[in-house]
Amino acid sequence: MKVKIGKKTGDIIKRDSKVILTVTRETYPFMPDHADGEFVYDVEGNKFIDFSSFISVYNLGLNGNKEIRNAIKKQVDKLMHPAFADFYNEMPVRFAEKLLKMAPPGFNGKVFFSNSGTEAVEAAIKFSKIFTKRPYLMAFYGGFHGRTLGSLSLTASKIVQKEMFGPFNASVHAPYAYCYRCPLHLEYPSCGIECADYIRKYPLAKEVSKKELAAIVMEPIQGEGGYVVPPKEFVKEVRKIADDAGALLVSDEVQAGYMRTGKFFAMDNFGVEADIYTMAKSIGGGVPMGATLVRGSLGDIPAGSHSTTFGGNLLAIAGAEASLDYINKNMPALQTGIIRKGAYVMKRLEEMKDKYEIIGDVRGIGLMIGVEFVRDRKTKDPAVKEKDDIADECFANGLIVLPAGQSCIRIIPTLTIDDKVLASGMDIFEQAVHNANSKLFKK
Ligand SMILES: Cc1ncc(COP(=O)(O)O)c(C=O)c1O
Repeated sequence: MKVKIGKKTGDIIKRDSKVILTVTRETYPFMPDHADGEFVYDVEGNKFIDFSSFISVYNLGLNGNKEIRNAIKKQVDKLMHPAFADFYNEMPVRFAEKLLKMAPPGFNGKVFFSNSGTEAVEAAIKFSKIFTKRPYLMAFYGGFHGRTLGSLSLTASKIVQKEMFGPFNASVHAPYAYCYRCPLHLEYPSCGIECADYIRKYPLAKEVSKKELAAIVMEPIQGEGGYVVPPKEFVKEVRKIADDAGALLVSDEVQAGYMRTGKFFAMDNFGVEADIYTMAKSIGGGVPMGATLVRGSLGDIPAGSHSTTFGGNLLAIAGAEASLDYINKNMPALQTGIIRKGAYVMKRLEEMKDKYEIIGDVRGIGLMIGVEFVRDRKTKDPAVKEKDDIADECFANGLIVLPAGQSCIRIIPTLTIDDKVLASGMDIFEQAVHNANSKLFKK
C-alpha cells in the first residue's frame, strides 16, 4: 500500500459529516489538495494518477492547463459577473460564435448558457416544449440527465436517485441498446435492432401519442449508467423515430462530449445530427458552466420564458474560451493522442479480459472506456462489492477511479495524460483486478 491517510483527512471527514449533507461519495477517503496538470496531490501529500478527470471535468489537464488558468485569473480582476441575462457583453458572444462552429455544418445555431449539466438539460426540455408545442419527453433506461426535477424525470439510472421525488414531468422511457445485457435478451447484430422497433411498438403506440412527443433525449454513450456504447444503427433509428414523430432529438453531451471520444460531440461517432446539444462538465475548464445549443431553424424562445442569473459568467466563459482555443489549436495532435491512448487502454483491457474471469465486458470510444465486472460470466451476476474493492485498492496504490452503473469502473483520464503515466495507472488497475479476481475465484 503506497498511500498513507493520516489524522488530517480523518479530522476533516468528521467535521464534514457534521455540516455537509450526504452526497454521492461511496468509498475511499480522497481529499485532493492541488493538481499540476498531470498528477493530483491530497492533503497528506500523497501523489495520485487520476483516471476520473474529476468526474469528467478536467478533460484538458488536472486543474486545467496554464492557458486556462491564466485566462480565468486575468478575468477575476476585470469583471466576474456581467449579469449577462440582462446586460450585454462581448465575451459570451465571442465564445458562442466559436462553440457553434463546432456543431455540424448547417446547424447555424444559438446557445443558452447556464451553470451545470442539469440546467443545460432543463433548458433543452423547456426549449423542446416551446419549439414543438408538445408536452412529452422520451428518454432511456440507464440514462442520466441530472437531478433537478425536470431532468430527473428523464434520468432512469438508479432508483435511489428517483425515489421520494415523484410524481415527475410528463415523460416516458424506453430500453437503451445495452447489448451486453440486452433488455430483450437478443444478440447483436442478429437482433436487427429490435430495441428500436420496441420504441415504435410500445411507448409510442401504447403510452404516448407521437403527436404529443416534443423530444427524445439521449446520451450518445451512457455515462453514469455504465459506459454503454450503443450500435450505430440504434442511434440512427432513434433519429428516424424522432423524425417520424415530428419530435426533436436532444443529444446529452454533458459526459460523453467535449472531445472525450475523440470527436467534439460524441453524437458525431454515430453519423447522426441532433437538434439540441447539451454540454457541461469540461466546457468551463473547471469553472461551473452549462450550455444548450439549439439548431437555428428552430428559431428563438420568447423573451422572459427562460433565463438564469449566472449564465454567461465571465470566469466560466474565460475558462471555456481558453479551453476551446486550446482544442482548436491542438486539434490534430489531441485527436491522434485520444485515439492512440484509447486503443492502448482497450488493448490492455482486452488482454486482461483473457486473464481475469471477473471482467465481463470492456467497451468504449476514444478515452471514454468502461470495464464491467461480473461474478460469473454466464449469469453475468454484477460484481458490485468486487468493483468497490478494486476502486479502493487502486486508491490505496495511488490511482483514482470512479464507478459507473452497477458494477463498472470508468477509465477516463485527462485527454492529455502522458503515455507513461497512463501505462503506470493501467498497471495499478491491473494489479487490483488481479487481486479481486484471485479472491473471487480463490486462485
Ligand atoms: C450525461 C449527463 N447529463 C447531465 C448530468 C448532470 O450534470 P450536473 O451534475 O452538472 O448537473 C450528468 C452528470 O453526471 C451527466 O453525466
